[in-house]
Amino acid sequence: MTPAIRLEHLTKAFDGRRVLDDVTLDVSPGSAFCLLGRSGTGKSVTLRHIVGLVMPDEGRVLVDGEDIGALRPWQLARVRKRMGFLFQNAALFDSMTVGENVAFPLRRHTTLSETDIQARVMAKLDAVGLARDAHKMPSELSGGMRKRVGLARAMALDPAILLVDEPGAGLDPITTREIDDLLVAQKAAGVTLVVVTHNIPSARVIADDMALLHEGRVVARGSVAEMDASADPLVQAFMRSEAGG
Ligand SMILES: Nc1ncnc2c1ncn2[C@@H]1O[C@H](COP(=O)(O)OP(=O)(O)O)[C@@H](O)[C@H]1O
Ligand SMILES: [Mg+2]
Repeated sequence: MTPAIRLEHLTKAFDGRRVLDDVTLDVSPGSAFCLLGRSGTGKSVTLRHIVGLVMPDEGRVLVDGEDIGALRPWQLARVRKRMGFLFQNAALFDSMTVGENVAFPLRRHTTLSETDIQARVMAKLDAVGLARDAHKMPSELSGGMRKRVGLARAMALDPAILLVDEPGAGLDPITTREIDDLLVAQKAAGVTLVVVTHNIPSARVIADDMALLHEGRVVARGSVAEMDASADPLVQAFMRSEAGG
């Protein structure tokens, strides 16, 4: 089966410093993949390559078998519409209501009528438990609520692939668990998940497969059980940590 995402020998340097070094990874359609690693090891840069926000110095990014580096801008835009991205800080538009934040991609990328947009917005907010908060401004929300709005917005176009950068960052363990459960629900609905985290309890809840990134290289990858069974001290240190590195 063609992987939903394939990274092939990705290498990337910024200012002469190599951040990704020969990274090769596959994510199967409909599976959940967790990318683990300490801060500064290149996890966010890897996610940004997948959506074409960053282009590799060497290597290729394939989405559903298509090399996105070979696409014209309009073709890349079409591929990007199949992907939802939840940024670490949720990246909400602070001058728009919750409802308008979720409506934004629908207004930009579809020709849906206003009635249909409102219906879709309410359905997405309902799915994340915020059906009654559409009129609120982002500044009125807790960190967990902001993440939920970000998730509703990332899902607005019903993407086949959802990329999430550190879903639990800045959240308490209970709220983190609620966000994790929402991600698991997306997977159950058939969405392919790529989640960056250094939170091992979260990764255990979400992941089918994992990879550990260390200094820009993939040092281990496999199922949760395979990672648990690894003899590599680096993998062991990670898998046994409660909050992660
Ligand atoms: N656009 C950029 N320009 C220069 N350096 C960058 C850029 N993006 C990321 N980096 C550097 O690449 C390294 C990896 O960053 P990142 O992928 O954000 O790490 P993390 O694993 O914490 O998500 C860091 O040292 C970061 O400073
Ligand atoms: Mg990061």
